[in-house]
Amino acid sequence: MEEKALILMTYDLPREWQGDFLKEYRVILSEEDRKGIASNLMANLPDAAGIFCLLDDPIPAEIIHSAPKLKVISNMAVGVDNIDLGACTRRGIPVGHTPGVLTDGTADLTMALLLSVCRQLPKASRDAREGRWSGWNPTGWLGLDLKNATVGIIGLGKIGRAVAQRLIGFGARIVFTSKHPKDEAARELNARQVSLEELLRTSDIVCLHTALTKETAGMIDSSAFRIMKESAVLINAARGSVVVTDDLVAALESGLIRAAGLDVTDPEPLPSDHPLYQLENCLITPHIGSATYNTRRSMAEIALQNLAAGLVGHPLPHCANPEVYQASDS
Ligand code: GLV
Repeated sequence: MEEKALILMTYDLPREWQGDFLKEYRVILSEEDRKGIASNLMANLPDAAGIFCLLDDPIPAEIIHSAPKLKVISNMAVGVDNIDLGACTRRGIPVGHTPGVLTDGTADLTMALLLSVCRQLPKASRDAREGRWSGWNPTGWLGLDLKNATVGIIGLGKIGRAVAQRLIGFGARIVFTSKHPKDEAARELNARQVSLEELLRTSDIVCLHTALTKETAGMIDSSAFRIMKESAVLINAARGSVVVTDDLVAALESGLIRAAGLDVTDPEPLPSDHPLYQLENCLITPHIGSATYNTRRSMAEIALQNLAAGLVGHPLPHCANPEVYQASDS
């Protein structure tokens, strides 16, 4: 009888999300509560045909080189910046990801963060609870209007576009940056594609929705904060490292910008004694953009479909490095 393919999983999905899927394979789960490939998984890399991992599990080239039988890596996320994609492509290993299903969930969370920050909900709620609500206050807890605000969207992919559509409903004006010309999207959203400099200079709210790449890492640094309006709000629901954290702390402390809402941080998780938590003008959530039951379940389903396809050598339904099907050294 043919031996079942070995899959290493860094996370034990709920049984009802797995269905019968994993019964067809030999599965080894991480025995350690830490990110990345735990030591019991490391020991099994030489025999592994598949790896199932999460967005905060680093998969560097060394791991890929230690797994000579590896046929597929499946990341339960749309972003794949945790994986050395180039090393996978060179080895002919397709990397699966989960685009599409998390677009609306992440756009909703972005709006929740944006509205909370613009209307100071955390402070207002704390003040009410802690006895600082002495009456209706004409000048208390004043926030920013979304109607007629200019919102700059950095990265007009699926999520950036879904956020723009929501913002239009609030009467905001949209400007955006994108790697490629996006005339059709611009028409549809009645939006303008502009340079990064113009976006930073003119936006009341700057929303980050770009993938983390060599080009975007550290893109929002002290010089970007100096260009932004002093009244501007920064929202990051993309990847923490697009922003230089120390520069953000300085900008929020010194009033270079008004406030920030962050669903992602660098480092992640952000240590509980980090200075960002001390700042009243910074709202932080623990990377929950896609955290709805339906979205996470759909992400798991797609990740398992990618894994199954890769194990039998079929093209992945959602492949993050499609160039792997053109060229490989293997
Ligand atoms: C979430 O951040 C994802 O990449 O899926």
